[in-house]
Amino acid sequence: MSDAVLTALEWQARGCARLGAPFYAGMLARVIADTAGGGPTAQLFAPWADASPEKAQTDAVALRLLAAWNYLALSSDAADLAKRFPPRAFDVDGAWAAARTALATHDGLIRRFMAHEPQTNEVRRSACLLGGFLRIAQDTKLPLRCFEIGASAGLNSLWDRFHYRIGDAALGDAEWGDVESPVTLDSRWEGAAPSLEPQVRILERRACDRRPVDIREPDEALRLLSYVWPEQIERQARLRAAIAVARSSGVAVEAGDASVWARQATPVQGAATVVFHSIVMQYMPAAEQAAFRQVLETHGAAATRQAPFAWLRMEPDKAATTFELRLTLWPDGADQLLAEVHPHGEFAVWR
Ligand SMILES: C[S@@+](CC[C@H](N)C(=O)[O-])C[C@H]1O[C@@H](n2cnc3c(N)ncnc32)[C@H](O)[C@@H]1O
Repeated sequence: MSDAVLTALEWQARGCARLGAPFYAGMLARVIADTAGGGPTAQLFAPWADASPEKAQTDAVALRLLAAWNYLALSSDAADLAKRFPPRAFDVDGAWAAARTALATHDGLIRRFMAHEPQTNEVRRSACLLGGFLRIAQDTKLPLRCFEIGASAGLNSLWDRFHYRIGDAALGDAEWGDVESPVTLDSRWEGAAPSLEPQVRILERRACDRRPVDIREPDEALRLLSYVWPEQIERQARLRAAIAVARSSGVAVEAGDASVWARQATPVQGAATVVFHSIVMQYMPAAEQAAFRQVLETHGAAATRQAPFAWLRMEPDKAATTFELRLTLWPDGADQLLAEVHPHGEFAVWR
């Protein structure tokens, strides 16, 4: 097997160990030995035989395989795996033996996972986006029309249906949203946090993705869950609860590329039209990014005080070292850094 794949597997194993996932780190140690020795996992990485280490890493080859096994553990198809995976057990040797067997018994499913980039929907990002929506509501005093780009299953489009517990050193613990919601999101806000007071009314809510996840389909919901590492029990629980909210609210994500789909988000009188996204830009080729920005500029140029247009985004900074929440609000069109944020919404440090 190519050094690039082994380098990517080792990099991921170190990442899992560092991020508090020793079970996955242990599984990957066994995958690395198996692949290096030409075992059955080596064939699964054949499409990356000539890839660069960067390509093998950004394609997340290791996480594709782990997600396939996790999917089997979460489904009722592989009781043997389920018994040995967290949260039910922490049996790396037993899980590895069952996972090797599954390579033969579930070959088709595993190859399908190897051919698909990992696709997540991290619902606690809403705890950062919330501050941006509140700012837009406060600044415009208008109801919102929300258009989400790269929405995956569309869970963050339901940001106003969740309950937030905002730990803030200055304000004391604050709350926002629906206390009855099955989804409670805890986040730590520091610095000049936005006011939680503005009234928010949503007139329209739509979402798109290049490859939408239809969580009304049990298999799609399970696939989404399988990308959450099995040791991350809180994340799994949050995602399950958000899926339940999404199913009852009938959210539907439309298939579309950002630069084409966003054209319809033209500003209208009496509402603030918001295009927003989280952790999407890095997946767009440069030409698609440029075309998307052009669409935003065109909407911005058409905006007025009574028909404002907002671009809210939670993305890595230029150096890809920290994550930022930024807002551009037209007609003024000034680009503002609202906060430095945790990529999964654990905290936001407001400017
Ligand atoms: C890392 S996921 C983030 C999903 C979601 N925004 C979140 O924060 O949980 C990136 C998503 O962007 C989508 N995507 C990538 N390029 C896109 C494009 N050009 N147009 C629309 N969606 C795109 C992918 O299909 C994927 O679902």
